Amino acid sequence: MNQKKFAEVDRFFRDSKTSRNKIASLTAYDYPTARLLEESGIDFILVGDSLGMVVLGHPDTTQVTLEDIEHHLKAVRGGVSSSILLADLPMGTADEVERAVLSSLRLQSAGADMVKLEGPLILQMRAIVAAGIPVMGHIGMLCQQILVEKKYQIKGKTPEEASRLLQEAHAIEEAGASALVLELVTPWVAQQITRELAIPTIGIGSGPDCDGQILVYSDLVGLQPWFRPSFVIPKVDLATPFKKAIRDYIQETKAA
Ligand code: KIV
Repeated sequence: MNQKKFAEVDRFFRDSKTSRNKIASLTAYDYPTARLLEESGIDFILVGDSLGMVVLGHPDTTQVTLEDIEHHLKAVRGGVSSSILLADLPMGTADEVERAVLSSLRLQSAGADMVKLEGPLILQMRAIVAAGIPVMGHIGMLCQQILVEKKYQIKGKTPEEASRLLQEAHAIEEAGASALVLELVTPWVAQQITRELAIPTIGIGSGPDCDGQILVYSDLVGLQPWFRPSFVIPKVDLATPFKKAIRDYIQETKAA
């Protein structure tokens, strides 16, 4: 296992920002996908709590457990040696500072180079960084809040929301995070945050001006045609040849 040290991960993100090298990242939840992403040269791979919707068939991410992430993280770790491996702290696993650190240490033991927390959990971020684990922040639309928010909606449309997002972004940078995900943030606010921070922003549905982009890999390759976020244009429609191969196999088997 080629697990990366704090300084190496932090340096990668800060250097990418200063050298204006855009960062490309995707999610993965299993060994073969992780291996294909790494062999394609992806910068970092996220074992996200989107796992709940993409792999486990849940309606949202709120039921994903730390054990679920650990299980899939171990599989992904097997396929990753040069990309940075990031893991999500799922809902309820970072509510208190001590719990956040213990959960992060468990993810590190399962193979994570870095952990990601949803929301401006500043004390938790400081403590995780102090424990020697690199942190990625995540603001904007927070999927772990979907049961409260009821629908996925763009953030930063009002001046109040825009200024709250800017404040959160600065607080997360000051807490020692190495990068920050902006999910469904208006492109103008995403651009402002990107301009003001020294750490890179990683956008998802937040316009082209972030320092990098992240997507759920199955959205990008058209493997889940029943759920397509409006901001994703799939590069390929893998569901169609997949189903054709299965149908051909069924026909050949039955005809033999
Ligand atoms: O869980 C996930 O896949 C994520 C991305 C949407 C950033 O958090």
